[in-house]
Amino acid sequence: MNDLKDIIEEIKSRCDIVDVISDYMHIEKSGSNYTGLCPFHTEKTGSFMVSKSKQIYKCFGCNAGGDVISFVMRWENVDFMEAVKILAKRCGITLNRNISEEERQKIQEINKFREIHTEAARFYFANLLSRKNPGYEYLKKRGLSDKIIKKFGLGYSLNSWNSLMNHLLAKGYDKADLVKCGLVTHKSETNKYYDRFRNRVMFPIFNYNGKVIGFGGRVLDDSLPKYLNSPETLIFNKRLNLYGLNISKKSIKDDTLILVEGYMDLISLYQNNIENVVATLGTALTIGQAKLIRKFAKNVIISYDSDQAGQNATLRAIDILLQADIKVKILNLKDCKDPDDFIKKYGFEGYKKAIDESDYYIKFKIDILKNKYNLQNDTQKMSFVEEATLLLRRLKSPIEKDLYAKYLSDLTNISIESIRANVGIKVKNNYNNIKNNTNNRKIEQMSKIQNGYLKVEAKFIKLLMENKNWRNSV
Ligand code: CTP
Ligand code: MN
Repeated sequence: MNDLKDIIEEIKSRCDIVDVISDYMHIEKSGSNYTGLCPFHTEKTGSFMVSKSKQIYKCFGCNAGGDVISFVMRWENVDFMEAVKILAKRCGITLNRNISEEERQKIQEINKFREIHTEAARFYFANLLSRKNPGYEYLKKRGLSDKIIKKFGLGYSLNSWNSLMNHLLAKGYDKADLVKCGLVTHKSETNKYYDRFRNRVMFPIFNYNGKVIGFGGRVLDDSLPKYLNSPETLIFNKRLNLYGLNISKKSIKDDTLILVEGYMDLISLYQNNIENVVATLGTALTIGQAKLIRKFAKNVIISYDSDQAGQNATLRAIDILLQADIKVKILNLKDCKDPDDFIKKYGFEGYKKAIDESDYYIKFKIDILKNKYNLQNDTQKMSFVEEATLLLRRLKSPIEKDLYAKYLSDLTNISIESIRANVGIKVKNNYNNIKNNTNNRKIEQMSKIQNGYLKVEAKFIKLLMENKNWRNSV
């Protein structure tokens, strides 16, 4: 943890705002929140509110508000880094280095960009829900309920060149910052500024702690590009974040997350009560994302689109997930093109069944491989078995090896003994793979003994060559 950003996230996750504020002043539970007399202005009836679920405080009297760090800043009358230090000490995190001026500025910029994004998300959300608009109609046509629209904070970017920009400028933000955030585009040739997202359904992208870090915007028809996403910015990295994790992390079941490709797939599944789902952000799964998943779950069920592109992406994702020490299964969408389609057709029960029946990744790989060969042809059948054997040999557990050797034998009508032998015999040449297999351990011992014989023999010949008397007596 040497990135200051991570340290601050860690501090905030360890310092519960209710605990911290309770140490400074008296607050009482009232419904799902806590209330008290505002410490930042004089009042007789409490209009100061603390939310445990949102980890924020807010005074409805004087409008003071913010997160745990901003509370400490105001109470202690210190700057941002000083407040971070106080909280770090409180939760036992050592800030074992001095923060440079550069880093301090970076942190401030990150906070500002996040604020801008939150404000933009509110704006898009209000556009979608406060008046009649084509974005809302589109989402209704796709079958989304108001409840789910609110849960995911979906929005609509108006069909206008700078409604968002004007809104944010009126809030006091800097034009240059809006450009750096990726929300406003600057054309240098004409020196014109305009909103990046126009006439699109907006999907705010949250990091796993629930902060808006970017947006995906979908067109309302079949025009291209279907999606426009925020560019990479100081706060948005497509390779390190996952869509929906802020919500699904609360619903992880059986230590398992389901991985899908599309925002719409995830939301549609969620609406149908499949809640432990995450999606990538329009790029192939990265090792950074796999490691993030591993923080929350040991198992992943890949549920990508069923077309060729989806299959190829699945094959790539399998290897990445395995690298992150995740157990991988693959869900079969049968006749449907994507999870959204599937759940609309077969419902919760159908998808649940597909989860239960999802295949261990090696079976999926063998099946894909099988489709490349004509098993009626003996030569091709042998090539298939050779390639499939390579896959099996890479498995660590002998039980898995045996299980899928059986599967391979059933597929090809080749005896299980031959397949086992094939897996074993090939292993002989590869010292690293030998360890798990009893048969191969024997082979290994034999070859060690043989090596021993060879050494003795070589020594003996050497002696004979060097010494005439020995030669004669032999
Ligand atoms: N995507 C993207 N840019 C595109 C197309 C796709 O970033 N031009 C990303 C989006 O994150 C999208 C995902 O790839 O969610 C999967 O694409 P697709 O399956 O086409 O999108 P869906 O979310 O399923 O959208 P829809 O059902 O509305 O077609
Ligand atoms: Mn889709």
